[in-house]
Amino acid sequence: METIRHIATKTFGILTGGGDCPGLNAAIRGVCRAAYDRYNMTILGIANGYRGLIDGDVRFLQPRDFWGILTRGGTILGASREKPFKSQGSIYEDNFSRDKVGMIKENYRKFNLDCLVVLGGNGTNTTGYLLSQEGLHVVGLPKTIDNDIAGTDLTFGFHSALAIGTEAIDRLHSTAHSHNRVMVIELMGHKAGWLALYAGVAGGGDVILIPEIPYDINAIGRHLLKRVQSGKNFSIVVAAEGAMSMEEAGMEKKERKRYREQTAVPSIGYRIAREIEEETGMTTRATVLGYVQRGGIPCASDRVLATSLGTAAADLLAKGEYGRMVALAGNEICSVDLSVPAGKVKSVPTDHYMLDTAVSVGTCLGR
Ligand code: F6P
Repeated sequence: METIRHIATKTFGILTGGGDCPGLNAAIRGVCRAAYDRYNMTILGIANGYRGLIDGDVRFLQPRDFWGILTRGGTILGASREKPFKSQGSIYEDNFSRDKVGMIKENYRKFNLDCLVVLGGNGTNTTGYLLSQEGLHVVGLPKTIDNDIAGTDLTFGFHSALAIGTEAIDRLHSTAHSHNRVMVIELMGHKAGWLALYAGVAGGGDVILIPEIPYDINAIGRHLLKRVQSGKNFSIVVAAEGAMSMEEAGMEKKERKRYREQTAVPSIGYRIAREIEEETGMTTRATVLGYVQRGGIPCASDRVLATSLGTAAADLLAKGEYGRMVALAGNEICSVDLSVPAGKVKSVPTDHYMLDTAVSVGTCLGR
């Protein structure tokens, strides 16, 4: 264990931004226990993401606040999707006239923070990067069930959501084979297909549709009918919420939005179910798993990852290595410059080995 002679950070603020996910509390505990127990730092908990820092909604965290939270779902700090740089001056914001970035900087100084620790996804870490460009000291942690943050091999929250998605696919099998149906399950993942791909492979999905590989409904139909001809009376289709057809992939963002509105279905899973029925004549049902995927206790591997990233973030604070996000690279915990995740989405590469794995066990990827 490295001995740090001069502890650079005396006081820091900690916040959780974006959607909640399993492992957030484990990470908060990791940061706070190491910062408090090893480095004797003073910790301010900021409520509801960046919104709490704008409003000055902060409180001192004592050990009793971060004891016993390792297994708890959600976040003890509260979260929001506040994006101070995006909503700055927007007339669509109720509080558009406020200089949110200015207020964050003012409160950072007012509360004598030496650093801000931000736990979040792409949006939260991008804001962290922009604040560091404004002169604030920031350390980021990568959390999201989507696993779509550039600069880290894995985000905490992903494996817990993967387990929930996989269990849901397992459960859908019973109805699928009992009723000779096609069951479409829509999983989260935002614009990336990690969750659908991994859960699809883990649950033995017959078709897996991810945004990175726009689908052709004719190819899906052919695959499903071939299964029927070979004596398989049911099929499971796993669709990422960001999945899109080849036709949509060729459209501009606005055009695609208009096109989707015309289809008058709540989400892509329902639309794909309808398209499959039209294409094959097979009875098809849709299930949208939704927020169930983000709820509940973190799985063991998320607890380990969140704790390791949390304590590594405390080490960065102690050393005064600011403007960085802690990350996993292979089997090592490391850190990357905050500019690495900023403004990016880590998509599934089209040569990812899992795609090949899926095809090798007879799964159709929509082409
Ligand atoms: O980023 C996590 C996530 O759950 C995505 O998978 C999903 O697209 C989004 O958040 C939902 O956001 P909200 O909580 O704002 O509805």
